[in-house]
Amino acid sequence: MEGKPVGVIGIVGAGTMGTGIAQVVAAMGYKVILRDIKLSFVEASVGRIGKQLAKSVEKGKITEAQKEETMARFVMTENLQDFKDVDIVIEAVLENMDLKKAIFKELNDVCKAGTIFASNTSSMSITEIGKESGRPDRFCGIHFFNPAPVMRLVEVISGLRTSDETIAKALEFTLSLGKTPVEVKKDSPGFIVNRLLIPFMNEAARLYAEGVASVEDIDTAVKLGLNHPMGPFQLLDFGGIDLSVTISNYFSDEFNDNGYAPQPVLKQMVRAGKTGMKSGEGFYKY
Ligand code: CAA
Repeated sequence: MEGKPVGVIGIVGAGTMGTGIAQVVAAMGYKVILRDIKLSFVEASVGRIGKQLAKSVEKGKITEAQKEETMARFVMTENLQDFKDVDIVIEAVLENMDLKKAIFKELNDVCKAGTIFASNTSSMSITEIGKESGRPDRFCGIHFFNPAPVMRLVEVISGLRTSDETIAKALEFTLSLGKTPVEVKKDSPGFIVNRLLIPFMNEAARLYAEGVASVEDIDTAVKLGLNHPMGPFQLLDFGGIDLSVTISNYFSDEFNDNGYAPQPVLKQMVRAGKTGMKSGEGFYKY
């Protein structure tokens, strides 16, 4: 948790991913400007980070002084105009292409010419979002995994027009966070991890729907047979079944391959509001 006081990082979106990323970035010494459409969302996000850090103090992983230093690095805002002096922007809003495009379009007028723009999209085209940013050469994907403070991987993704210099800076930045970056050299739906994970979870849903095994037994099989920390249904609940359905539909459209389409059982659960942990019920109850 050594301080690295170089640079200011702007994060757009204070949901699960934005909050986790903000925690990681501030803990490594960067000043963080965290923005959501309502200040109360940002305050709640920073409150959650405070609770996480308090737990780390209790466990003796960091000192109270380190916690206070990290908490002092947050600037909370609902205004993108406050991103004037940021060096890197990480967008972590909903997986909605139009929303992402609109945010970067606005940021292009606000930020310095040298500011690097990055999307934390887990699946969508970096080239397409970058096109609207007005600076496609300084635009890339920096994709964290949930929970961001715990997961060591970051995917750094090139769009078709991303410059080598932008990728070099993004790699250097992710290394400065103590993460292990992998380079995704070609912009392709789902990049590496979700290209593998989404069909895997979808196939688990098909297996269950065919009556081959129960939810619990499929999860046990994957955990004990493959040494995964969570089974596919636990992971579906953890990440949100609605998100998985959105990404499956995106894959199906982008690859022109209906084999990627979401399993009916997943679509039904979303219709019933059973989207996983966040709604209190998915394949399991919470
Ligand atoms: N934020 C910060 N820290 C958290 C956390 C959170 N949300 N959740 C857990 N942690 C920390 C805990 O504080 C604990 O820290 P210490 O070791 O310092 O005590 C540590 O993580 C382990 O947590 P727990 O003991 O409570 O629980 P666990 O050992 O069962 O681990 C887990 C929880 C880390 C989530 C683990 O189950 C796991 O790794 N699951 C798989 C997660 C995964 O696959 N993520 C990728 C999802 S896919 C994705 O993100 C791609 C996408 O774009 C959709």
